[in-house]
Amino acid sequence: MLKNNLLLRAAKGEEVERAPVWLMRQAGRILPEYRATRAKAKNFVEFVKNPELAAEVTIQPVDILGVDAAIIFSDILVIPEAMGLPYEMIEAKGPRFPNTIHTKADIDKLKIADAGDLDYVMKALSLTKKNLNNRVPLIGFCGAPWTLFAYMIEGSGSKTFSKAKQFLYTHPDLSHQLLEKITQSSINYLKGQVIAGANLLQIFDSWAGVLSEKMYYEFSLKYISKICDALSPIAPVTVFAKDAHYAVKKIAETSCNSIGLDWTIDPTKARQEAGGKTLQGNADPCLLYADEKTIISETHSMLKAFGKNRYICNLGHGLYPDIDKEKAKLFVDVVKEYKW
Ligand code: CP3
Repeated sequence: MLKNNLLLRAAKGEEVERAPVWLMRQAGRILPEYRATRAKAKNFVEFVKNPELAAEVTIQPVDILGVDAAIIFSDILVIPEAMGLPYEMIEAKGPRFPNTIHTKADIDKLKIADAGDLDYVMKALSLTKKNLNNRVPLIGFCGAPWTLFAYMIEGSGSKTFSKAKQFLYTHPDLSHQLLEKITQSSINYLKGQVIAGANLLQIFDSWAGVLSEKMYYEFSLKYISKICDALSPIAPVTVFAKDAHYAVKKIAETSCNSIGLDWTIDPTKARQEAGGKTLQGNADPCLLYADEKTIISETHSMLKAFGKNRYICNLGHGLYPDIDKEKAKLFVDVVKEYKW
């Protein structure tokens, strides 16, 4: 049915003619077309809740950059909201939670979200699916339980997430209760996304890097693994744990299909540790500030290092807002034109 299913074949470890390419945070940020659509909504939260507008900006990078997949325009913070903890997006600053989690009573009050609580995302997915007309696969996503926990306790972004980590050290049992509730909500949510049309799912653990290795396994990977077990029977799952370079081997032991790598990880070393699983990544987003010649040669060496099969080309984290869209397009074109 899909005209271009490179991403799905690569994720499942099947043979491909060339590596698929998409870019984390490709919807928004660098595209003037995104900003024009965003201006039609009152604010970010309302924008995310508008399926027509969300579908429009989801498809923009497929048309403009020529990527091999669309990722649904939404945010990881819709899950805390669906559980009863609303968020705001402060212009030029980032997310903020007016209320945060402090006590057992706060955790008990949260509901386990189901897909119906996120009906606007389901509608955005099915509308996007219809409008994509089977051109490329559609990626659904959620935040990893630990990354969502970090925002729900901290109340905003942070360099250290020390309030969230303080909670792990001082209330480990309550921490597990909250992580479990987020995990159950995320499973319900992702199952709904697959029913609504998502072809592959990615779990973003953006704040993996603030935890020690030991704490990472106990408070993060354990829950990611539960999500993989629940979802991988119905759709391929990618786990992207930013700055958890030590964890590739353990992530490969979960039932995920592919592992997202940031740019600090050497492709050859990751191959040895990934146990035959597909790898995704891992160009430094800052490479796209370089001149064209450098972008081309660095991208070529990355492709050579990963090899054609079991590989999804991407950046090692999301695009930065001031990256020139022509440079992003060049990166995509270089991957698509590479002679394997
Ligand atoms: O990949 C895509 O393009 C799909 C859409 C998407 C958004 N957020 C839209 C968005 C995805 C996959 C996310 C995930 C997300 N959101 C993550 C994990 C990925 C990562 O970058 O580590 C995180 C940590 C968040 C939380 C969040 N949302 C932050 C910290 C911010 C503010 C700063 C920023 O990243 O721009 C957002 C806002 C946000 N989410 C924007 C977009 C397009 C920019 C808001 C705007 O339009 O003004």
